[in-house]
Amino acid sequence: MTETLASATTEEAVFDVVLYPAMTALNATAATVLLRSGNDQELHVVASVGYDRGQPSIWQSALTEDDGPAADALRRKEPLFFERDRDLAQAYPNVERRTGAVSPVAATAVLPMFLDDRPLGVLVVDFQEPYTFTDDERWFLNVLAAQCAIAFGRARLLRSLEAQVAARTDSYLKEQDKLQLANDDLEAFSYSVSHDLRTPVRHISAFSQLLRKSSSECLDEPSRRYLQLIEDSATRMNTLIDAMLDLSRTSVLPLRSESVDLGALVNRARRDLELDTEDRTVQWNVGALPVVRGDPETLQQVMTNLLSNAVKYTRNEAVTHVRVWAEDQGEMWLISVQDNGVGFDARYADKLFGVFKRLHRPEDFEGTGVGLANVQRIVRRHGGEVWAQGSVGSGATFQFTLPKTP
Ligand SMILES: Nc1ncnc2c1ncn2[C@@H]1O[C@H](COP(=O)(O)OP(=O)(O)OP(=O)(O)O)[C@@H](O)[C@H]1O
Ligand SMILES: [Mg+2]
Repeated sequence: MTETLASATTEEAVFDVVLYPAMTALNATAATVLLRSGNDQELHVVASVGYDRGQPSIWQSALTEDDGPAADALRRKEPLFFERDRDLAQAYPNVERRTGAVSPVAATAVLPMFLDDRPLGVLVVDFQEPYTFTDDERWFLNVLAAQCAIAFGRARLLRSLEAQVAARTDSYLKEQDKLQLANDDLEAFSYSVSHDLRTPVRHISAFSQLLRKSSSECLDEPSRRYLQLIEDSATRMNTLIDAMLDLSRTSVLPLRSESVDLGALVNRARRDLELDTEDRTVQWNVGALPVVRGDPETLQQVMTNLLSNAVKYTRNEAVTHVRVWAEDQGEMWLISVQDNGVGFDARYADKLFGVFKRLHRPEDFEGTGVGLANVQRIVRRHGGEVWAQGSVGSGATFQFTLPKTP
């Protein structure tokens, strides 16, 4: 029983484990559990078995300060045993009057339960016939009450922990809603800022070109260089703004949910890249890829970004190896893209997915730093996750998951 009690995680389960075995072990006719509750001033009947439904029992909810046997056993901190007919009624003459019940019992054990010295409640076992409790039986009942107390304590703790978890989850969800709203605002803000910046940047670009045309003869060498710098910066800014707009679109445009053949997406991305890498030796190793449900256009961006990175960051290898494969993880597909290129410092693996975050210098590898940010947003919107592994000089592996049923 000790083992079964240990696995009883609710108060109801504790009753089931305790009441019946206690009764059958001693051939008792009925049993009741009273627990202190709320303000600690009251004892409540929380379970009872074996009583005649038509007849009220003397074991009723009561004040902890009253003069009944349950309150008395708790105050005295010791079990009370009544072995003969009317023993209990005589010891507690007010009980029958107060409860309106005739004590039907001949013998009774009233066992107080304590947890860390705190009174928890009372376990009562009733007999129909006079009964003499042996020392072993008294010991058994005491142990039973002590174990019951531990099990009740654990069940209560669990219930209060569950309530705390529920409350926290609730407030967490509310916070998440607020965050989502703030995020949406920010997204809309960055979209409109990027959008509004386009015109002035185009003007800078256009007017500096005009200036160069109209007055290039009058300008000295340093001035011409300054003008070139202005133009280059305007062009760069234009690229960045377009990237920001792309990123905003990725986050807000609705996603379609269709059958998407990842193998076909890889083939398309690969065809485009092969045009740019005709002068290189690129060995592709593409395994069987699944058909998933998702948005074909954005998933194409995911594959294109990962493969174009794989091809870009292997530029200096004599032979480039790009491997793409899928693994079945039960509820998810795991897709991996591996290359044998320059790799990156593993400490910054998370940073790669940040907007405009780059680990390589523009003079070594050109780029804007939004490809992976886009990949992450798209994969997350599909219910998956993406991460990177690599080390300097020994290639990189990018992996993402997609749920089979989004
Ligand atoms: N396959 C790879 N091997 C090594 N480093 C990589 C690889 N893919 C990405 N990185 C690193 O992660 C950074 C971010 O990648 P991301 O694709 O977001 O930007 P990018 O390639 O620099 O520019 P773009 O916006 O044009 O894609 C890169 O600048 C590079 O430092
Ligand atoms: Mg990239």
